[in-house]
Amino acid sequence: MGTWSSDTLKSATLRLHKAGVENPGYDTTKLFESCLGKRIYSLNKEEIDTIPGKIWSSFENLIKLREQRMPIAKIVNEKEFWGRSFHVNTEVLDPRPDTEVLIEEALSEEFGQFLDLGVGSGCLLVTLLAEKPAAYGVGSDISPSCIRVAGINIERFGLKDRCKLVTSDWFSEINCNFDLIISNPPYISKDEYETLQPEIRYFEPKIALTLEDDGLESYRKIASEVSKYLNHNGRLIIEIGFGKYHQVKRIFERTDLSLENEIPDLCGITRALVFRKV
Ligand SMILES: C[S@@+](CC[C@H](N)C(=O)[O-])C[C@H]1O[C@@H](n2cnc3c(N)ncnc32)[C@H](O)[C@@H]1O
Repeated sequence: MGTWSSDTLKSATLRLHKAGVENPGYDTTKLFESCLGKRIYSLNKEEIDTIPGKIWSSFENLIKLREQRMPIAKIVNEKEFWGRSFHVNTEVLDPRPDTEVLIEEALSEEFGQFLDLGVGSGCLLVTLLAEKPAAYGVGSDISPSCIRVAGINIERFGLKDRCKLVTSDWFSEINCNFDLIISNPPYISKDEYETLQPEIRYFEPKIALTLEDDGLESYRKIASEVSKYLNHNGRLIIEIGFGKYHQVKRIFERTDLSLENEIPDLCGITRALVFRKV
């Protein structure tokens, strides 16, 4: 047996545990499989012990990153959303499973032209375009890096002809109307941000999470203009932060949109609100 063996996997798990990683065994397996290019369960102990040293060295590099609490998706530059794998890096928020409830709601009705406000990685824009082949989408973001990454994902899924990306401070560069506006805006307050786990604070872009405010400023900005950009009968589907339901509802009461639906996430907590322009 050489320097590397199945024991290396055990010690990697222990190192991640010591570093405070929540699921060290799962993460060790994921990182090892990403170096190996196949699932680990297909190998027995002897086969693991004969894996070439260069694979173990790459694995060691990835474990070091995870020890620093870099999220797996940022290490392997891929994150699953609605059954598709998206390119991600530290400039975009990793798509979250809870955000999939916005997709489910959006797909429950027909729409033509739509806007993804704060496009990030492009996970909402790409998914809606892929699931609704007759739709046309605009994706906007204040961050040029997000526009770049969203562009990579649009190319990946061959959707370039049915969308446009715009660098824009909310609606500043938007000049048409939509059947649907979908948005997962930054909604973490300045105080909440300080309490987030290292994976988020050090490796997710701050601008995707917080405006360093009370966690409601995005909603105020969006609410002040959104109606102008919705067609008659158009919908706004917007993600909300934990515990912000009443405050966000109150902000939108000042618009001419009517609250139509409250969407729970996988834990039963209201995760998105649906408004309609009547
Ligand atoms: C929570 S992330 C959502 C990203 C992606 N839509 C998703 O669901 O994974 C919020 C996004 O809003 C963008 N953003 C923040 N402030 C903005 C602004 N003033 N105008 C437009 N986009 C903004 C951020 O750059 C970030 O990409």
